[in-house]
Amino acid sequence: MIILRRDVLRWGLAGLGAAAAAPRLLAQDAKPGALAEELVRTPRQTEGPFYPVKLPLDTDNDLLIVNDSLTAAVGEITHLSGRILDSKGDPIRNVLVEIWQVDNAGAYLHEGTSNKEKRDRNYQGFGRFLTGSTGEYYFRTIKPVPYPGRTPHIHVAVKMKGREKWTTQCYIKGHPGNEKDGIWKSVKDEKQRDAITIDFAPIKTSKIGELSARFDIVMGFTPAAD
Ligand SMILES: [Fe+2]
Repeated sequence: MIILRRDVLRWGLAGLGAAAAAPRLLAQDAKPGALAEELVRTPRQTEGPFYPVKLPLDTDNDLLIVNDSLTAAVGEITHLSGRILDSKGDPIRNVLVEIWQVDNAGAYLHEGTSNKEKRDRNYQGFGRFLTGSTGEYYFRTIKPVPYPGRTPHIHVAVKMKGREKWTTQCYIKGHPGNEKDGIWKSVKDEKQRDAITIDFAPIKTSKIGELSARFDIVMGFTPAAD
């Protein structure tokens, strides 16, 4: 099932409410073009070995429903949204944002995954979203869980015409596994680390305990300067 723009707006607003409580300047607080020197660039992180070798038939932005299935994936429902911004804080359009992560049993949509025998067939494991003029993207997915050797994370790829694929990973703020995770710890700058470690906040109006997570991505360039 594809998620429509009206859903993006509805859940996107819920997400902004959670982000506004953050004490320091985050990308979502910035006005386009302003405070550029204070914007923290999102650190690049390894793609890792589990990008799907074969993409699923359904690659939309709702990872909870595969094709027209009536059964949703297992997990804590999360509305993940954010904007793709250039180094000045201006939104970048026509960016293909891809995410992939393990299902609630800790299995990737990949032959080499751990927990393969437990894989949730109702979880899409991978999704795509093309940004519009606001640079905004949106996915419905689950809150990530750990798998052997890693703290919970969501992989993100940013693809733009004429540029090489750029990847990062985002993490759960306050998760005890982060401090033991070599890839998380490889980001030495505290502000940069904070930029990829995000809140998964309960949506107050949700009767089924859904979460909202906001992950803005600040690229290290401006398209206009190319
Ligand atoms: Fe991973």
